[in-house]
Amino acid sequence: MIRFLSVSKKYSDEITALDNVSFEVQDGEFVFLVGPSGSGKTTAIKLLIREEIPDEGRIFFEDLDLADISRDLVYELRRRVGVIFQDFKLLEDKDAYENVSFALEAAGKSDNDIKETVPYVLEIVGLKDRMDAFPRELSGGEKQKVAIARALANNPKVLIADEPTGNLDPTSTWDIVQVLNKINNWGTTIIMATHGSEIVNTLGKRVIRMEGGRLIRDDIKGTYDPVEDFETKILVNTQLTKEKDQQRKDEKPVSAPPSQEKSEKKEKTETNIGKNEGQSEQKSRREKPKRKKVKIGIKNKQKKNNN
Ligand SMILES: Nc1ncnc2c1ncn2[C@@H]1O[C@H](COP(=O)(O)OP(=O)(O)OP(=O)(O)O)[C@@H](O)[C@H]1O
Ligand SMILES: [Mg+2]
Repeated sequence: MIRFLSVSKKYSDEITALDNVSFEVQDGEFVFLVGPSGSGKTTAIKLLIREEIPDEGRIFFEDLDLADISRDLVYELRRRVGVIFQDFKLLEDKDAYENVSFALEAAGKSDNDIKETVPYVLEIVGLKDRMDAFPRELSGGEKQKVAIARALANNPKVLIADEPTGNLDPTSTWDIVQVLNKINNWGTTIIMATHGSEIVNTLGKRVIRMEGGRLIRDDIKGTYDPVEDFETKILVNTQLTKEKDQQRKDEKPVSAPPSQEKSEKKEKTETNIGKNEGQSEQKSRREKPKRKKVKIGIKNKQKKNNN
């Protein structure tokens, strides 16, 4: 379990990156960290892997009080918490196998352990056939998969991903999201900072929203935008449509001659409003199937995993 208790972090007198933030993450959860640029997501992650230390408050990871741990325990923490980043952070002069084995060597694992574990974790992310490839020979999505394999190698309890799909095209993005979802289904806690509203809305997991260093929302099955915002948008749009209808009725002459009615109808179809409405309808028709396809992909994987 992870606990942030009234945590604040200032980088200077002017910059308060985190302001009195408290939350808990239970084992096995999948949590999205969302919020505008500069809202404190990466800072929260850095505090959690003890790359930074809070000015106020306490952070606990399982039995470790992060304010009060020795250097050895910091290494222990980083073995228990795997991290992946937007820019992959792979070693360019090492191939996929070596990038993963390096992490195991650093953790003092035996040669036999390493020989068993590296192909296993590369298989989990679907890259067993590319073990000999160097980062320059891999696509962005494949590089991120190597980074995930490396993060998994020490069998962490928690996997933290700081905008892991920020540099990826939509297909690779969903590939990575599915890999993370699979790992979560196997019991690893996932904390993922992201600007990807479609990912957040599609997965329907817990969403913690930051703004100006403060935690402003924590929704169990959240959406990228607060639900109230959607509701307000719908209410406002409904009200506008009603008003528009009323306006049209009021404007219509009581007894217009038939010829005038005809030309009025024609005019309506040629107005800009009519064109825009048509366009947005077309757009939503284009977007809908795309989203559905992705959802099905994830469900299928889950099904597979459950079997
Ligand atoms: N090392 C640092 N020194 C000074 N200020 C910093 C440092 N790191 C972050 N900040 C500031 O702290 C605030 C929070 O930054 P943080 O990186 O946590 O935001 P973020 O939510 O991750 O943003 P993004 O979505 O752009 O990644 C910002 O105002 C940022 O400029
Ligand atoms: Mg960040």
